[in-house]
Amino acid sequence: MKIFKTAEALHNEWLKLRKRHISIGFVPTMGALHDGHIALVQEAKLHNPFVITSIFVNPTQFNNAQDFKLYPISVEDDLNHLEDAGCDAVFLPSVDEIYPPDFKAPIYPLGYLETVLEGAYRPGHFQGVCQVVDRLLQIVQPDEMLLGRKDFQQCKVIEKMVELKNYPTRLTLVDTLRETDGLAMSSRNRRLTTDQRQRAPLIYKALLSVKNKLHTKDVNTIIINEIRNLEESGFKVDYLQLANAFNLEPLQQWNGENAVILVAAYLDNIRLIDNIEIEGKPS
Ligand code: PAJ
Repeated sequence: MKIFKTAEALHNEWLKLRKRHISIGFVPTMGALHDGHIALVQEAKLHNPFVITSIFVNPTQFNNAQDFKLYPISVEDDLNHLEDAGCDAVFLPSVDEIYPPDFKAPIYPLGYLETVLEGAYRPGHFQGVCQVVDRLLQIVQPDEMLLGRKDFQQCKVIEKMVELKNYPTRLTLVDTLRETDGLAMSSRNRRLTTDQRQRAPLIYKALLSVKNKLHTKDVNTIIINEIRNLEESGFKVDYLQLANAFNLEPLQQWNGENAVILVAAYLDNIRLIDNIEIEGKPS
């Protein structure tokens, strides 16, 4: 597995691959890799002979300094996992490589998408995500980029940025990988204490519970009950919401459209997010 630390070194490799018409799959990550990340690499490998993973803890997408400081880092382990998964190359840039001193952060007109849910609770977060993914796409120039549905709103935001910037890269969204008790895999799970880890799957249970009752009751009442249950178990809930899966507009009831139930909640100072999608009924 090749390791590149500069855009220039990576570009030399890119030129060689292009000459041989070898397609490139790309998986952007912030490291502290788990099986959910590895699933993206494996999926990328199914479609592309050459797969590049980036590991870069992007400072501009953290709206909370403490969260950035505590973000887990395990590069050695990450490299071993990637090698085992058949990843061909890793891009490990420095902050200066991504944001050179003359870098001017563009403003992305994301509109409504960045005003709701994660956007409302993490101001500036999605601008930071767009900045880094935009830079990575300029550098890596992949044929395909793979993203996890675990970060549903992030997928929507990146889709929009890719469209705004007219990138030719194809986007593939991969299902959320979960622990056996339902907890969505996440790098932040490493920070959970044993007691928190035991309670953490309750956010997935809340999502399932809303999903199972969508047909029967008024959605708002179901959601209020689930938020109360979570708060009784020690969570601080930012949101638990049903939304249209296409544009993320909130839904007061489910009328058979493609929808998504999204949740963000704190266990002490650790913020977890998750979602489940509801397939629309054929009209
Ligand atoms: P990170 O949280 O490291 O996630 C990297 C990719 O892995 C994202 O596309 C994310 O949705 C996906 N992922 C995370 N947990 C997953 C799971 N349990 N199952 C499937 N996929 C999962 O998301 C980011 O990094 C950053 O915002 C990034 C896009 C790299 C920009 O900095």
